[in-house]
Amino acid sequence: MFTRFRRKRLHPVLRELVQETVITTNDFIYPLFIRSGEGIKKEVASMPGVYQMSIDEVLKECETLKSLGINSIILFGIPDVKDSVGSDALCEHGIIATALRAIKEAHPEMLVITDLCFCEYTDHGHCGVLNPKLKTVDNDITLENLAKQAIVHAKAGADMIAPSGMMDGMISAIREGLDSAGFSHTPIMSYSTKFASAYYGPFRDVAESSPSFGDRRSYQMDPANRREAVLESLADEEEGADILMVKPALAYMDIIRDIRESSNLPLAVYNVSGEYSMLKMAAKAGVIDYERVMMETLLGFKRAGADIIITYHAKEAAKILNNS
Ligand code: PBG
Ligand code: ZN
Repeated sequence: MFTRFRRKRLHPVLRELVQETVITTNDFIYPLFIRSGEGIKKEVASMPGVYQMSIDEVLKECETLKSLGINSIILFGIPDVKDSVGSDALCEHGIIATALRAIKEAHPEMLVITDLCFCEYTDHGHCGVLNPKLKTVDNDITLENLAKQAIVHAKAGADMIAPSGMMDGMISAIREGLDSAGFSHTPIMSYSTKFASAYYGPFRDVAESSPSFGDRRSYQMDPANRREAVLESLADEEEGADILMVKPALAYMDIIRDIRESSNLPLAVYNVSGEYSMLKMAAKAGVIDYERVMMETLLGFKRAGADIIITYHAKEAAKILNNS
């Protein structure tokens, strides 16, 4: 006997009619890693298909993205010079400010988001200025610098600011900074619930941002904590975040659902480097059907409650979506 379940699975069109979750290219934000120079497009061994690019190459990449229907990007910078405060990130001629002006001029209709943090810019690789006594990031001095960095990005044309450093009070500080500099129209997408995760390993190769000592556990969250995960995102909502985020995504599907049900703000997930590399390496080893596993994974994020997916798979997924 067919019952009410299998009857609806026989005709492929009916299967589509009753499908509850859909992914479109409008859901994606594609990460780009930018360094100085010209004609540079350097693949990183741990993340096949992901490159460090010079600005001219990034402009070409934007063309490709647009043709695939991907209109949102998030920028990460690899500066020529690193120092104890991460000065390149605070300078109007730093790598990100320079890239922003070029991208917004060549592709004004793209949504250009900037990752706001200091780990790529500091010589010690931590996400802010160090407090020598505590031997970790000083919260309040870093807040001042985050507000400055946000204003530099906004002035250079950033359409949205995405602070990823997990400092307490970062959203208030950045919101106040932006508002007082005349950028009250610039939204903030907070990395509001970000865990201290081993899944960031490959990213730190690409972004050259591994901490030179210790780890990030005094600012990023303990992966064991579910209630605190909700509190972190709700605090950012109160401070004025426009979009919330869970990061990583794959091992945190429960957290995505929890935050979806605790807040009415749009929710992003970051499908991080380690998640991407695992699929790539499994595909290389011939043990999975890469495209199907990728699409199933992305669908899972949306089913869990995400509205937006930041993913290195965006181009590959768009090709599949555009052909179906
Ligand atoms: C910087 C930052 C990180 C990622 C995004 N922004 C790394 C980190 O916190 O160490 C990780 C992204 C990824 O793994 O793909 N704070
Ligand atoms: Zn950081």
